[in-house]
Amino acid sequence: LGAHAAAISEIAYPEKPVILVVPFAAGGPTDVVARMIAIPMGKALGQSVLIENTVGAGGTIAATRVARAAPNGYTIFLHHIGMATAPALYRKLSFDPLKDFEYVGQVVDVPMTLLARKDFPANNFDELLSYVRTNKDKVSLANAGLGAVSHLCGLMFMSQIGVELNTIPYKGTGPAMNDLLGGQVDLLCDQTTQTMPMIKEGRLKVYGVTTLKRLGSLPNVATLDEQGLKGFEVKAWHGMYAPKGTPAPVMDKLNAALRVAMLDPMVKQRMNDLSSDIVPADKMTPAGLRTHLEAEIGKWGPVIKKAGIYAD
Ligand code: MLT
Repeated sequence: LGAHAAAISEIAYPEKPVILVVPFAAGGPTDVVARMIAIPMGKALGQSVLIENTVGAGGTIAATRVARAAPNGYTIFLHHIGMATAPALYRKLSFDPLKDFEYVGQVVDVPMTLLARKDFPANNFDELLSYVRTNKDKVSLANAGLGAVSHLCGLMFMSQIGVELNTIPYKGTGPAMNDLLGGQVDLLCDQTTQTMPMIKEGRLKVYGVTTLKRLGSLPNVATLDEQGLKGFEVKAWHGMYAPKGTPAPVMDKLNAALRVAMLDPMVKQRMNDLSSDIVPADKMTPAGLRTHLEAEIGKWGPVIKKAGIYAD
């Protein structure tokens, strides 16, 4: 009888709102993507998808929360490349990205931009390099903690130019951006899902993009690669997860709802406005996400180990 009841409740899923956990602060780039998807996903599921911002430790607190949540489809998770970099960044991690989750699918690829507060003295990338080389003790670089993609981007920047700056961790780049706009910090590497409107409005200085090709929407902003940081490429790819053991029929419904949401014309338009690429259908699958996650763990592990940074 128990198994039968479980099967029926799987078919009835969802019977109450679904919590979508976001591992960074409200208003920041991951939150922007999550809130954009939540409404059409909720429509497709026939229940609300509610956002919960569980912040701290570069996204690892949220990942732990989801890994330990009941595997019933009522707690799901949106995370980015941080899911792949955390195993190398943390000596002790209380979750395993490859063992503790089911995979809904990849979602979107988001480029990044290297920015400064508007009145920062350097007016272009060359001036930035000479300024930070001579004033490194004075220059602050914001990030969203060890495990955040802003941290990874900042680390790559500092290691490629051979300069260590004062890094200031926040609970997300939402609050970091507030301080950048307010002039309390100097530099930030952040995703276009947050930065694009501020760049377009001229509220910040932008020195380069982290993709190997320029962005169609910012044709005059050079890549960091073409400005001398050879091979500099950081993309904040996003994936959607559920706790390990979430039943297959529930996972199927979540995947179907994600696909419907990403076809929504509003979502497509907004992602396009934010220079972000919705992944092709073959990647928006459990296997597509799992394969990409494995490849990214393999790619970033050695880079991070070589850089010698760990949290305890
Ligand atoms: C955020 O949503 O605040 C960002 O994704 C943080 C980051 O990883 O830089």
